Amino acid sequence: MEKVKLANGLEFSRIIHGQMRILDWKMNSQELLAFIEQIMELGIDTFDNADIYGNYTCEGLVGDALALKPELRKQMTIVTKCGINILSNKFPQKKIQYYDYRAEYIIQEAENSLRNLRTDYLDVLLLHRPSDILNPHEVAEAFGKLRREGKVRYFGVSNFLSHDVSALQAYLDEKLVTNQIEISPYRIIHFENGNMNYCVEKNLKPMAYCPIADGRLAKPTDEKSERIVKVLHEIAEELGVPETDSVIYAWLLKHPSVIMPINGSGKIERIRRSVEAMKLDLTVEQWSRIFVASRGVALP
Ligand SMILES: NC(=O)c1ccc[n+]([C@@H]2O[C@H](COP(=O)([O-])OP(=O)(O)OC[C@H]3O[C@@H](n4cnc5c(N)ncnc54)[C@H](OP(=O)(O)O)[C@@H]3O)[C@@H](O)[C@H]2O)c1
Repeated sequence: MEKVKLANGLEFSRIIHGQMRILDWKMNSQELLAFIEQIMELGIDTFDNADIYGNYTCEGLVGDALALKPELRKQMTIVTKCGINILSNKFPQKKIQYYDYRAEYIIQEAENSLRNLRTDYLDVLLLHRPSDILNPHEVAEAFGKLRREGKVRYFGVSNFLSHDVSALQAYLDEKLVTNQIEISPYRIIHFENGNMNYCVEKNLKPMAYCPIADGRLAKPTDEKSERIVKVLHEIAEELGVPETDSVIYAWLLKHPSVIMPINGSGKIERIRRSVEAMKLDLTVEQWSRIFVASRGVALP
């Protein structure tokens, strides 16, 4: 498995596994542990989670699985996120969904994640979404404290636009290691808003979430997804691969920003296909046909 260097002392596997949908997989701790081990046998060692996933349960489910084999932790790179407060029966006093990046809240959430995941360090903590009331002095204070105490090794962001990244980065001593954003043949907004260019310029390697567009590129639900899937089928045939998800991963991997796709599937064969897609090389013409199918209009 190709490794991507994000900072001195930090590497991600090129394909990452996402743990947002654990509740859908209906696995007990033993089964989840076995699944994580199967994924790691494919060479994937980087796992993505967040405090809020599964109504604040997914981190704990991973922690319960890892408790059955604690020695696995040091072979894994764990990424999790903080900052979003969702509407939840667990916090009935909160009346709306909102984002909180006070130093106190970031530290509290990181410490909760440590307890949930039953680990004494997080490899990477991401701020989940940009906020209009984010105070970079407070974020810098929280990051500094968590790093000094050995609780979090590195920090990054998610869903940030280039100006959000540069505004925060200006207040931090260490470089943010990644921006986790939605990128797929269905969702090309970050090619159009300058965010991908910014990643290339700053060597800020992006993690790509929802690569299959929430399943929409496996089972099209609208005209746009139908249009893209038609082209994916044509290219799968040209490449001699049976499934279109391989083409989607090859399309993401082709971009010069060094996209690290996060596979969110609960099925090992689908995860294996994303790893095998690293062997495929789309031509620029094939890459562009997918891009144009997404745009719905030819390039000028
Ligand atoms: N930072 C953020 O704001 C954010 C937001 C969303 C997600 N994420 C992260 O990104 C990860 C991946 O996102 P995602 O789960 O939405 O990814 P995705 O790959 O776009 O969607 C996965 C869903 O599609 C289904 N699917 C159907 N056919 C598939 C196929 N051929 N290949 C793969 N999946 C297929 C999967 O079902 P099966 O399980 O049956 O395969 C699963 O329900 C999450 O786990 C999370 O870690 C981050």
